[in-house]
Amino acid sequence: ADGTVEIPVVVNVVYSNAAGNVSDARITEQIDVLNADYSGTNTDASKVPTEFQPVNAGDTKIKFRLVNTIRKSTTKASWKTDDAMKQASSGGIDATNPTNYLNIWVVSKMTSQGKSILGYAKFPESAGLWLDGVVIAAPFFGKTGASSPYNLGRTATHEVGHYLNLRHIWGDAMCGNDLVDDTPTQTTSNGGAPTYPLYNTCNSVKRSVMFMNYMDYVNDASMFMFSSGQKTRMQSVVATSGARAGL
Ligand code: ARG
Ligand code: ZN
Ligand code: CA
Repeated sequence: ADGTVEIPVVVNVVYSNAAGNVSDARITEQIDVLNADYSGTNTDASKVPTEFQPVNAGDTKIKFRLVNTIRKSTTKASWKTDDAMKQASSGGIDATNPTNYLNIWVVSKMTSQGKSILGYAKFPESAGLWLDGVVIAAPFFGKTGASSPYNLGRTATHEVGHYLNLRHIWGDAMCGNDLVDDTPTQTTSNGGAPTYPLYNTCNSVKRSVMFMNYMDYVNDASMFMFSSGQKTRMQSVVATSGARAGL
């Protein structure tokens, strides 16, 4: 009634060890984090600096509801970003109706170019395809038992942001463009736990950057907001005419 879209979620757990077989409680915890972060009811929302409060999205009017959990045991201990976990024929679990459900795969470990990674996602251009959805490595899924400093469930918040058409806040280039007007242009990604304010200069303009945005690369505890422009971008994807209208 208030325009809130509730996205049904299927969690596909492809595990090779006990740690990778994340519990139902941890899956619920992860869905709860998504609901808190996307509604602006996360407890650390109070940390949004005064400067950015006018452009804080608050409630994005996107919610998540767990509808099914599917589990599969495998001897494959490490996965790549090649989507193999998304098909039974390559050792994974086939997506459930990706036009109508957000599929999340949880794998025990994942690497890209030889380095361990937290997760990856498909943009709306993949909507409805067999590979559509989000993948999270188990150590960074949920909170209880997850691996610090990525143990607040925010890898999923970030990846679902990509799934809903958000770019990295630095635009994946030096002083790049994330296609969102109210996120200040920043030189590159931020990591760790930056101290506010943090200034960057792009094209001779010095700006305080929004490193606490979910679409930067900081620690889970250092990210706690989406901007209003990001909310608008996500809403247009789930709107009746959007690429993910089926959700
Ligand atoms: N590196 C991943 C990506 O680009 C996820 C980063 C998530 N960050 C976090 N603090 N959990 O999609
Ligand atoms: Zn990302
Ligand atoms: Ca921007």
